[in-house]
Parts: sequence; C-alpha cells; structure tokens
Amino acid sequence: MASKYGAAQVLVASNRGPVSYEVREDGSLAARRGGGGLVSGLSAIGPDAGALWVCSALGDGDREAVRRGVGESGVRMLDIPADVHADAYNGIANSVLWFVHHMLYQTPLEPVFDAEFRRQWASYEAYNRAFAEALAQEAAQGAAVMVQDYHLSLVPGLLRELRPDVRIGHFSHTPWAPPEYFRVLPDDIAGQLLRGMLGADRLGFLTHRWADAFTACCEAFAGGLGDTRVGVHGLGADADFLRKRSHEADVNERMATLRAEIGEGRKAIVRVDRTELSKNIVRGLLAYRQLLDDHPEWRERVVHVAFAYPSRQDLAVYQEYTAQVQRQAEEINGRYGTPGWTPVVLHVKDDFARSLAAYRLADVALVNPIRDGMNLVAKEVPVVSDEGCVLVLSREAGAYEELGEDAIGVNPYDVVGTAEALYEALSMSVGERAERTKRLAAAATSLPPGRWFLDQLSELNA
Ligand code: F6P
Repeated sequence: MASKYGAAQVLVASNRGPVSYEVREDGSLAARRGGGGLVSGLSAIGPDAGALWVCSALGDGDREAVRRGVGESGVRMLDIPADVHADAYNGIANSVLWFVHHMLYQTPLEPVFDAEFRRQWASYEAYNRAFAEALAQEAAQGAAVMVQDYHLSLVPGLLRELRPDVRIGHFSHTPWAPPEYFRVLPDDIAGQLLRGMLGADRLGFLTHRWADAFTACCEAFAGGLGDTRVGVHGLGADADFLRKRSHEADVNERMATLRAEIGEGRKAIVRVDRTELSKNIVRGLLAYRQLLDDHPEWRERVVHVAFAYPSRQDLAVYQEYTAQVQRQAEEINGRYGTPGWTPVVLHVKDDFARSLAAYRLADVALVNPIRDGMNLVAKEVPVVSDEGCVLVLSREAGAYEELGEDAIGVNPYDVVGTAEALYEALSMSVGERAERTKRLAAAATSLPPGRWFLDQLSELNA
C-alpha cells in the first residue's frame, strides 16, 4: 500500500512487539498492548501508513495466538522455536551483546567465548535469518524496513541479500561501545555484527556518543562505514500521552496510597527502573544510606521510593541482582527505620499507574545508570511532576547530553558524590526547582515519539 511517507510501505521489526497474549483459565486469549516509545511512535504515523510490525512470539500465549491465527491487523508474530529464541535472546542478546554495548563485562571472570557461546551464536544467526526471510516475504517493492535493536543486528545484511530493492534502517536503543571495548568480541563475531548492521542504508543512534563509537568500530574493524549513513535521533517523552494518562483515576488512587506510605510532610526521592544491572539500583541505595549517615537531620524527613520492575528473570544474574536490591533495601530499613518511618519503600512489581503516581509526587528523581542508551524515566518525570522535581542524573545516561544543564550530574560509581547530589537536590529552593523542571520538560519533549519515527523514515527515503 502506498503511504504519505514517501515509501511504498513501512515495516518495523523488533524482538518484542506491540502486543502480547496470555491464555486465560477458560482457554481464551487476552491481548495486552505494550508501552514504550516505539509503540507510540508507530501509532503516531496512523493506520493509513500501511505499516506492518514483524515481531517475535515471546511466551506460550503468543505462540498459541500464532497457532490459532489470532492477531491484530498490522502485526505479524514469528513463531521461532522456543529453544532457538532462548539461545538468541537470553544467551546472545541479553548475556553477551547487552553487556558489550553497555561496557559492563566483569573481567577477569567474564566473558568466556567457548563452544557453548558458538552454539548459541548459531541460534542468533537462525533467529535473525527468520526475521530477514519474513521481512523479505512481506515487503512490497521499495518498502522501508525499520529494524530495531541489538537482537536483530544481522537482519540488515541478511535482508539486503534477499531484497536489494528495499530501503533498510536500523535503530540502536542501547549505547554502543568504542573499539577499545568492542574488541572483547572474537574477531569473526565482531566483523559479522558490524557487516550485518552495515547492510542498512541508514543507522540510527540515540546520542552522538554512541553514533561516534559505532563509526570508530567500523573504521577499526570493518574498513569504514562504506555507503551506510549514520544519524542521531534522541527519542523524547510523549507529553500529550503522559499528561493525560497521569491524571486518570487509577493514578490518583495510587498517589493517595503512596502518600500514605511515605508519610505527610516527608520528601520523596523516587526511582523507577527495570531490575536491570546497568540501572545501578544497589549503588543508588548505598548513596541514600550515605545521605542518612552524612546528613542525619534528614532522617525521618525523607523516604526513598524505589520501583524495580522484574526483567529478564530467566537469567540467573538478573535474579541475583533483584535479590541484592531487596537485601540492600531491607538492610537500610533495619538499620535506620523507626516505628513511624520506613526509609526505603521498595516494590518489585510492574505497575505503570503507580510509576506515574510516583513521578507526580517526587521531590527528587534518582536516575543513576552505569550506562544507558537514553533513559526515558529522566525525561518523563519532569513532564509529569506536579510541583517540580530535581533530577539527579548519571553522566553516563544518554539523556545527559540533552538534560545535563538543568540536572545535577553524578558519576554513577561514586556513592559519596551521589549522596552529596541527593543532599543538594533535597535542599534546592522551590523556585529554582520549578524553573529547572520547566526547562527539563521542554528539552525532554523536543522530539516526541511520532516525530522521532517520521524523521528517521524521511531520512531513510532521502
Ligand atoms: O534498551 C533496549 C531495550 O530493548 C528497550 O527498548 C526496552 O525497553 C528494554 O531493552 C527491555 O528489554 P526486554 O525486551 O528484554 O524486556
């Protein structure tokens, strides 16, 4: 179908799609729409774009939906064998590529590129090939195909071989490591990844830092970029959606519950993350503990609200990290808590309405990742905040490139420095905090998801 966006047809490819299914007790299927920038970005281009989203069936519900032929129009789920998907997603994408891109390997114990890694790599290739074949089959002549993220790094090259006529874009939602770090990968694997990506006409990154690192890797290991163009598109927050959603009844209810948990008159330091190693939740808790030690006058007057949503729990290292977060929160509550004051309120359960409630009442938002492609929480809080919120932001988050001036920047490894930043944030005047929040919200929403997607599409077609 022709679209008004200058390409014959638009296809999106990603591991996680815009919808997932669960089998109910009575055997029927319940559909759940996913959130996130890409979903709102794509819905913003409208149904007349003739867009098709190719994604992976991720659980039993999704697989059942594929088997029964149930599905939303505009979405094609690929039923890749569960063991191949597990090797590709858990084994390669999340255990290897995620940590390489975030520069987070814990040497000298990791990584070990052994025969098991090579076996899983073969699954990663098969998984990428399944996507390339489905896209080649679905794409009309001259279609624009927008491939997402590190799960599908080989797709551009594989698709290019099958369909030289289509335009291929790839977008990385993660950081990209510079050559000194990327070289941890075996030579043949590094070369294959880069050549896979370079099969695209255009590659997108969230910040200049990640785009420059990718370019440097190509110069070091692949003889340069060739004909592939590289661009930067800093995905922003969706102000219209967030402002509306954050005032709905369920969010108001959760605000009342949360306010009671915190206690009237107390300040709230809020953080919201997946239970993800790169998010640095444990050091955040240690910094809060340090604040209570260095500035005891804040005891009983502040609460650290930490929402850590379960993520990638098939991997032992994520399970262990989640347990470590829980232990650290308990330790702080045991040591400093009093009958009327719980210093840390930790919830390990997914609840978007409760996150929005926390954003609205936060006095301080702590966003201290060790490394992050962008970090949308840093952009969402200032948009939703009721009375202004000070942002304590890691200099290693992509969002720092855009928000650094009005945030309080921290080195994510520096617990004492982060404690001092929290103290400064708690002590900031109401007037300054409101001014900063206004400027942060403007910067955070300068590239809303719909435009973020359309900009890439028009650049790809240029
Ligand atoms: O940051 C990369 C990313 O793929 C995001 O787009 C997404 O929010 C996150 O990781 C979640 O990962 P998963 O699909 O493994 O839950």
